[in-house]
Amino acid sequence: MKHTMSPFLLFALMLFSQFMAGFNTPLPPPSYGDHVSILSIDGGGIRGIIPATVLDYLDKALKAKDPTTSLAHYFDVISGTSTGGLMTAMLAAPNSSNSNHPIFTPSEVVQFYKKYGPDIFEPRFALISLLKGFGSCDAKPCRAWYDLEKCPKYDGEFLRDITRKILKDTRLNQTLTNVVIPSFDERKLYPVIFSNFKLKTETYLNAKLSDVCLSTSAAPTYLPPHQFENDGVQFDMVDGAMAANNPALVAVSEVIQHTGNKEILLLSLGTGITANNKLGGIFDGVCQLQWLLNSYGVFSEALYSTDMTHYYLATVFSGFLPQDNYLRIEEYNLDPSMEDMDDASPKNMDKLEKVGKNLLSQSVSRININNFVPVPLDQTNAQALDRLADKLYAERLLRLKRKSMEKRRRPFIGTVEANSNGISAA
Ligand SMILES: *[C@@H]1O[C@H](CO)[C@@H](O)[C@H](O)[C@H]1NC(C)=O
Ligand SMILES: *[C@@H]1O[C@H](CO)[C@@H](O)[C@H](O)[C@H]1NC(C)=O
Repeated sequence: MKHTMSPFLLFALMLFSQFMAGFNTPLPPPSYGDHVSILSIDGGGIRGIIPATVLDYLDKALKAKDPTTSLAHYFDVISGTSTGGLMTAMLAAPNSSNSNHPIFTPSEVVQFYKKYGPDIFEPRFALISLLKGFGSCDAKPCRAWYDLEKCPKYDGEFLRDITRKILKDTRLNQTLTNVVIPSFDERKLYPVIFSNFKLKTETYLNAKLSDVCLSTSAAPTYLPPHQFENDGVQFDMVDGAMAANNPALVAVSEVIQHTGNKEILLLSLGTGITANNKLGGIFDGVCQLQWLLNSYGVFSEALYSTDMTHYYLATVFSGFLPQDNYLRIEEYNLDPSMEDMDDASPKNMDKLEKVGKNLLSQSVSRININNFVPVPLDQTNAQALDRLADKLYAERLLRLKRKSMEKRRRPFIGTVEANSNGISAA
């Protein structure tokens, strides 16, 4: 006897699998699930290629489970500072006003950096320096004069244009999932956190994402401050690194304030630090002194952010964030030749991508919060990301299932259980 599946059964099965996949529907809120998930991406200019490369691995692991989905369908919050804020917007903004897909996949983010990095970090006075090169004076005094003139180092025009072109008029309230992007108001001297969670009460924060991105990435000494007005409020913004170069703690705080008592799953990605310079290339050496003289108050905010982030997450927040739910992927031994956040030469960008790929096969490192030394664990970052993908996928299915049962007016508490292999399909 031939076993042909009846057309009806086939149809029903397809419908069911589409339902389980959720038609790439937005992730139902954490109240339907067991966890709140956060993706957090540090600042670091062109070194953003490193976390984007790591994210590409996770994105592909999730797409292998359900090709219709993107990172925004799994994370309740995507948070980023500076270059990480830019990435956050690209991963969370809809491709068009009624699309459920983001503008970019992580792999397209890497392509974005590679294509436009050289234009974003094109020296302002390229022409002048070229002419100087032909001049008769000896190089050193000429260079000193020219260096002092070029603060900030870049005019930011290209970044402004490309950001506006890509993000169009999309506002914070239109993102596919919640975003949390810190920035710093250099006039009022306090951090401004662009967060979907705050929009209910702070409507003036519903800015265009392009303005949010230009704010968080206006790295002092590299790019000019970004000024704009929204809803009658004036913003004079500099880089979110002035508030928190690693935004994980900010994102965790937003979640705890607004989503109740759920266990947190946190993936936090760094942009690489060299063994002896933890601030990495946050500041451009030449412009640093001049800027420091003018802005000491701003600078002091930035100094302590990253180690203290680990410290607070492991101590104050340990109840919300068990150790096993916190994955930090960072290159703690970046080759000093790759430290500059503005070296967008093709060779350096290729090297940064390789750092990201190599990180996948390295051991997971956990910071010892007594001496702030990274301690290797016995699994690789890729293995940890695979496990995270399993958890995120199971969480998404669980929420979709509970939500659909609620729609059919069946009580969902206590009737559905996630077994350890995820949700069984039957
Ligand atoms: C966004 O839309 C463009 C044009 O419609 C398409 O080429 C691109 O693949 C889309 N990107 C994503 C991530 O879906
Ligand atoms: C987002 O905000 C804009 C401007 O305030 C408003 O016109 C729009 O309806 C809002 N959209 C959503 C999805 O809330």
